[in-house]
Amino acid sequence: MVEKFIIHPGKPLNGAMEVSGAKNAVLPVLAGSLLTAQPCTISNVPNLSDVESMRELVESLGGNTNWNHKSSSISVDAGNLMKHEAAYELVGRLRASFLIVGPLLARLGRARVPLPGGCAIGSRPVDLHLKGLAALGAKIEHSQGYVEASAKKLYGANIYLDFPSVGATENIMMAAALADGQTVIENAAIEPEIVDLANFINTAGGQVRGAGTDTIKITGVKFMNSTQHSIISDRIEAGTFMVAAALTGGDIILTNVMGDHVKPVTAKLKEVNVQVHETDKGIQVNASESPLVAADIKTLPYPGFPTDMQAQFMSLLTKAKGTSIITETVFENRFMQVGELKRMGADIKIESRSAIIKGVDKLTGTNVCATDLRAGAALVLAALAADNITEVTGISHIDRGYCQLDKRLNQLGARIERVKDNIVIPVQK
Ligand code: UD1
Repeated sequence: MVEKFIIHPGKPLNGAMEVSGAKNAVLPVLAGSLLTAQPCTISNVPNLSDVESMRELVESLGGNTNWNHKSSSISVDAGNLMKHEAAYELVGRLRASFLIVGPLLARLGRARVPLPGGCAIGSRPVDLHLKGLAALGAKIEHSQGYVEASAKKLYGANIYLDFPSVGATENIMMAAALADGQTVIENAAIEPEIVDLANFINTAGGQVRGAGTDTIKITGVKFMNSTQHSIISDRIEAGTFMVAAALTGGDIILTNVMGDHVKPVTAKLKEVNVQVHETDKGIQVNASESPLVAADIKTLPYPGFPTDMQAQFMSLLTKAKGTSIITETVFENRFMQVGELKRMGADIKIESRSAIIKGVDKLTGTNVCATDLRAGAALVLAALAADNITEVTGISHIDRGYCQLDKRLNQLGARIERVKDNIVIPVQK
């Protein structure tokens, strides 16, 4: 069923909100659960359509899964893992499904997975994943849009990543976990989600050292065991709520969030004049007294400012006094929200990989369309601060990565309705 949000101009957000488990941590951990033939239980799992897609993928390969929504946990038993080929229909739904290549290679010696295409935010190649797996001894072939990787045995190797890619670091780490000997990944990604995956592998009997630094050492083990693992909290969901509070002049407390993980967002919020404090109860964001001021942002790999928070921050800066510049260095096409924000009255100009944002006094609600997950969140946030009703279509993108964003914002005082959307958008020729 296609749905849309109708967002009414609202009050400043107020109250407490518990942050969910991290989407970008649970997806690789679900892929990692294929590394062991023993049952695993993963808790603090967010209820997201992307997680459901990954669960279905694991099932399609022979893994048994059980998602207990009440306890927010998924158990996976990949004892009967037998299929090495992933269906195009499943992989097409989510790019993170490419993370099964490493575990399948390690467990079954082969993997046949559709090559992910480009997506709304850029071409997103997987060359670094494949170079790393080849360095471990895998033969990589491309055939009819699929990647075919095979190896009788994987051997530890020294791998230098040209760019600290999150996905490549994860895929290589998982393949290396069952390889013969030691693998060293240099210029590895250092995101908290990498540390979470390493912790999952280690509690299952793997040997990963140095995750969270740019040099990760993995000593391969012969097999991995049963484990239980709790997913870290979602720093991007937390950041999105923080910006929502800032945009509405609100005062909220977020619980279940790691202060360190949201530091780049906290620092920018302070720069634009929002008060952020770590309290006994959680992180308090208070924008009730301060007029927003402009700030410049450059997205970078962690611990730099996250590209996944860029769109939401742009919504905030549309209402900040002065001129802000956002430079996107991680993805080449991640300003999809700009056209829609401009239709709401924002003053934004794009020059190459930078967006120049002149703060305006007001945003005006209209019909806008979410083109991807974070762009969609940015439009919802802008709508909270707009002068009249905004309709946001394309919200299936938002549901991929936010658990009931509408309901939870409403608990803080927003007025968002989720309704059926029967309008068919004609294909543009
Ligand atoms: C992950 C996150 C995504 C986040 C991104 C950057 C998940 C499921 N998704 O995506 O939300 O926005 O990190 O923080 O965790 N690249 C290559 N070759 C490769 C791999 C990547 O050129 O083989 C490039 C990409 O095109 C992009 C940059 O490296 O420009 C960063 O990509 P990467 O860190 O791999 O992001 P993802 O793992 O896809």
